[in-house]
This record gives sequence, structure tokens and C-alpha cells, in this order.
Amino acid sequence: MSTQYDFKGRAALVTGAAQGIGRAIALGLMRGGARVHVADINFEGLDQIAEAGAVPHHLDIGDRSACHLTVSKIVDAEGKIDILVNAAGGSLGKGRGPVEDVTEAEWHAIFDANLNGAFWLCQAVAPHMKKATYGRIVNIASGAGLRPALNGVQAYTASKHALVGMTKQMSFELAQYGITSNAVAPGIVLSGPWARYQWESYGAEGQQRVLDSLHTRRLGEAEDIAHAVMFFAADDSRWITGQILSADGGRS
Ligand SMILES: NC(=O)c1ccc[n+]([C@@H]2O[C@H](COP(=O)([O-])OP(=O)(O)OC[C@H]3O[C@@H](n4cnc5c(N)ncnc54)[C@H](O)[C@@H]3O)[C@@H](O)[C@H]2O)c1
Repeated sequence: MSTQYDFKGRAALVTGAAQGIGRAIALGLMRGGARVHVADINFEGLDQIAEAGAVPHHLDIGDRSACHLTVSKIVDAEGKIDILVNAAGGSLGKGRGPVEDVTEAEWHAIFDANLNGAFWLCQAVAPHMKKATYGRIVNIASGAGLRPALNGVQAYTASKHALVGMTKQMSFELAQYGITSNAVAPGIVLSGPWARYQWESYGAEGQQRVLDSLHTRRLGEAEDIAHAVMFFAADDSRWITGQILSADGGRS
């Protein structure tokens, strides 16, 4: 990804940055000169991105007080927090299945990773961003936040739809303080082992059908999503808020 964005002097937090799309976003912000803090439950991936210059935080975003504590630590270290990218999430290894088989534990875990954690972090950064009258919140939603999902995971689709709603509500409440709230809705990106597994599960004919439905006739790469995030995270995007940008090769 070629970077023309300038994030020098900006402090950022990216969740889910141990791998995949979150990692590409963290690297993109670092290339632009931001001080980037990364949060994840994957120790090994955190170590790898720390070697690239990010500040790692082991954080389960489903834990509200841990989210608030992590933001406090970042503000203590940086004096502020300018950019929050909520990229953690996914269907957590859950595949297609009938609605009656969804367990309470699966439902809550998927909501914690895709919705609740993003809200706890918005809550934690809001007072600091308000004080600075500056902030950029970017949530990673999904095509499954706008319509039913190909992978058929009910909790995932419901949580991403809610994340889209939360993005718009945060915008309505926070943009008056100079804080924008937007979301990027990715199409299929072979960003990690689970995305690859799901792609394989479609079979050759299913994969071809998906490829034929994409205007680009190719799947996305993590950098394609990161590029859309850089746009929302930039200073100049100050009057663009409450928006959901599909980065999906033209599928939608
Ligand atoms: N890959 C795709 O095709 C695709 C499509 C649409 C949307 N998305 C969304 O993009 C985002 C990134 O997806 P990806 O493909 O890079 O996934 P990924 O599984 O490669 O990465 C997700 C990261 O989130 C972390 N994570 C999960 N639960 C967490 C928790 N409770 N606390 C902290 N960290 C947690 C994981 O450890 C992992 O490092 C997700 O929100 C996903 O729903 C992905």
C-alpha cells in the first residue's frame, strides 16, 4: 500500500492487530508516522507487530474495565488518543449451522468481539477526544453488517448490523466535538486461517460464483481494507462521518 497520508503526531489504538486486517491497518498508520498501540488476545501476533514498532497491549475487548484501563495507559503514555480503529472480531471459528444450534456462549462471545468491545473502547476514548476536540473512530463492519452473510453465522451478522448502528449513533453524538465515526464494510478477504477455511468450504463452484459476483473478479487483500481506513482516519476527512464504506471489489 502506498501511503500519501500524514499521521505524524497522532496517537492511535488498533484492536485485532495481531494479524490480518487489523495488522495491515496498524502498519498503514505507522507508515504515515502515527504512534500506534495495538490490542489483541493473540500474544504471538502482538510480539510480531511490536517488532515492527507498535506498542502491544494484551486485551480481551469483551472486558469493559480492561478496555478502559488500556485507554488510560495509552493516554498516560501519549498525552492523548486521536484514532481508534475497532478491527477485532470475526465469527471466532464458528461455521454455518441452523439457528436452533446457536449456544448462549457462542452468541455472547461473538457479540463481545464484534460489538461490545468496540462500544467499551468508544466509551473510554470519548472523554479524551472531546477534551481535544479531535478524534477519528473507524469500525470494521462487514458486508454481513448490511445484509445476510454468506457464512450463515447468525450472531456475526446480528453483531455487525449492530456495529453499523453504533457507528451512526456515535457519529450523531460525537461529531459536534470534532470526532468522526465511520465504518468500513469489507467483502471477502483471505486475511487469515479462518477466512481461508471458510473460503475453502464454498467449494470450486461456490468460489467461482463469488468471484463472478465481484466487479474486480478478485478477492480483497488486507491492504485493500486498510487503505479505506486510512481515508477515514486522516485529518482531512473531518466532514465525513456516520458513513459505511463498502470495500468489497464492487459486490454490493
Ligand atoms: N476477512 C474477511 O473476509 C472479513 C470480511 C468482513 C469483515 N471482516 C472483519 O474484519 C475484522 C478483521 O478480520 P480478519 O479477517 O483480519 O480476522 P482475523 O481473525 O485474522 O483477525 C481478528 C483479530 O481479532 C482478534 N480478536 C478476536 N477476538 C478478540 C477479543 N475478544 N479481544 C481482542 N482481540 C480479539 C484475534 O485474535 C485476531 O488477531 C473483523 O472484525 C472481521 O469481522 C473480515
